[in-house]
Amino acid sequence: MSTDDGVTRRRFLTVTTVGLGAAIGGVIVAPTIGYALAPVTEEATFSPVSLGPVSRFTGEQGFAPTPATYIEDPAELLTSSGLAYVHRTGGASHDWLSPAAMFVVFSNRCTHVGCPVAATLTGFGCPCHGSVFDQRGSRVAGPAVRPLDRFQWEIRSDDALWITKLWSVLNEGNRTEYFPVKSPGQPLAGQIPAIIADTAYPAVTYSNSTPPQEGKR
Ligand code: FES
Repeated sequence: MSTDDGVTRRRFLTVTTVGLGAAIGGVIVAPTIGYALAPVTEEATFSPVSLGPVSRFTGEQGFAPTPATYIEDPAELLTSSGLAYVHRTGGASHDWLSPAAMFVVFSNRCTHVGCPVAATLTGFGCPCHGSVFDQRGSRVAGPAVRPLDRFQWEIRSDDALWITKLWSVLNEGNRTEYFPVKSPGQPLAGQIPAIIADTAYPAVTYSNSTPPQEGKR
């Protein structure tokens, strides 16, 4: 499948939010069924999708990311639906990589085995096995192996917030390093030697093309 920016990728498993109805209702349950159903190595593409008007995400006070459901392909509801957490940073830049970027958009897929995390006052928590993430998505407790994945985003001419790609990340201070998305449970080069990360954990769910090199958030 091709995206409007020409990017192709492997079949990405956004099944952490297969419980779309529950998510729409604002209840983040543990839809691990979809995760179990879908093969993690299946080819996929990530199709850019609108999360809705920007105004929907600008009222955040403190740390209270706005959950936003999305469906990449209505014909493949189980494997193309998901939930993103949109955090309004207080910055004004529409450049998602800027230190003053207006938003950070997190995936709600826990990086342990893929349960949906829920936002808390201090970050995110996973109900399945107790992983805890801070407000940057970095793991602070529990069995998750890496920070929460992040969506690349842009504000389009329709004044809506679009997510266009997904990246796995490592955070160090205020800097974020981006990687092609890996499945839950898979460490990234930087956490372990790259040769091991790329050979022992080859099941990258899809490639976003060349990762941004100078991510600042
Ligand atoms: S799936 Fe989140 S801690 Fe296990």
